[in-house]
Amino acid sequence: MDRIHAVENMAFTILDEIGDEVEKMEAIAHLSGVAKFSFLLASRRSVNPELAYISGILHDLYAFTHERKEHALHGSVLALGVLKSLNTFNDDEIDAVVMAIKHHSDKKRVHDPLSEVLKDADVLDHFLSDPFQSPSVKDYQRYRSLKKELGINLP
Ligand SMILES: [Fe+2]
Repeated sequence: MDRIHAVENMAFTILDEIGDEVEKMEAIAHLSGVAKFSFLLASRRSVNPELAYISGILHDLYAFTHERKEHALHGSVLALGVLKSLNTFNDDEIDAVVMAIKHHSDKKRVHDPLSEVLKDADVLDHFLSDPFQSPSVKDYQRYRSLKKELGINLP
């Protein structure tokens, strides 16, 4: 099994903790959406697309299975456990994904390229899940830059 599918299988098994089927579907839709946008943005920006996809799959796992409060920090610890348990990632790869997840809620600051890919993919998925809604104030600057980068012709 490739590494992306190994992480996905483990993440989706963890999501089974969610009793409510609709909530579980929303979680899978968001995590998969962010993973795909992360892969796309990483490919454009010469960032490792496999690690970007994996960051997307894991980034809100804690928020969906526990709570949103401090979910970036707690989620980075959860991701560390998942990645270590798979025994297929080296320390640098694990550090990169864990850092991206730790930073992903801090949308106003700029961090390393993988963290930036994950934050932008999160904004894109929020926006495209409800494209006729204006982006939130905290996401607005990123949304504007992404529209320019990707040539999205919308207000
Ligand atoms: Fe998210």
